[in-house]
Amino acid sequence: MNVLIAPSLLSANFLDLRKDVEMVNDSVADLFHIDVMDGHFVPNISFGFSIIKQIKTIARKPLDVHLMIDKPERYLEEFRNAGADMLSVHYETCTHLHSTLQKIKQLGMKAGVVINPHNPVALLRDILPDADFLLLMSVNPGFGGQKFIENTYNRLNELRILKTQVNPNLLIEVDGGVTLENAAQLAKAGADMLVAGSAIFTNNNPKAYIEKMKISVA
Ligand code: DX5
Ligand code: ZN
Repeated sequence: MNVLIAPSLLSANFLDLRKDVEMVNDSVADLFHIDVMDGHFVPNISFGFSIIKQIKTIARKPLDVHLMIDKPERYLEEFRNAGADMLSVHYETCTHLHSTLQKIKQLGMKAGVVINPHNPVALLRDILPDADFLLLMSVNPGFGGQKFIENTYNRLNELRILKTQVNPNLLIEVDGGVTLENAAQLAKAGADMLVAGSAIFTNNNPKAYIEKMKISVA
């Protein structure tokens, strides 16, 4: 099983961002997870195109950009131009989710759908065939460092069944409250990609922590 590890730069040190990007480059992590927040769909505001563009100039792993913004269809091309390789949009923010996913793929990116903890995963049945990946929020979106919601395991079980029925190639990503303590259990429950922010960046040795996570899910 090759479960991908995606450190979330939301918890990086922005005064020394190059150092944290290089740490991820030199680690066994697979992706950079980049959280974009608009202060409207979620209460927090993070960063936008110019920072992503700069990260892209030194990143040696794909950029997995998670949009927590209303009407994300307005900006798909800009995020592609900024360097996104994977782009995910919230189910809750898209009136025409099907066409938004098609557009993301036409722009040459992997297309992902994100679902909040309160929404039944069964809502996704008709859209999963059009998605490359599904991001299951395991906290309420907006902030790093929150407590993992245990019901995520039930949701993962349901999703795994849905996946075999409608899109066996779908990758399942879990985001929020992921640590070395729950990574293996999440992988066993069907997660293909794990996002971790605070657990990695607050650790004294983030590179070794990523390695331990990677080993725990192997
Ligand atoms: C939360 C973001 C997450 C966040 C995860 O809205 O989508 O990617 O960075 O942070 P941790 O791992 O600290 O819960
Ligand atoms: Zn995220």
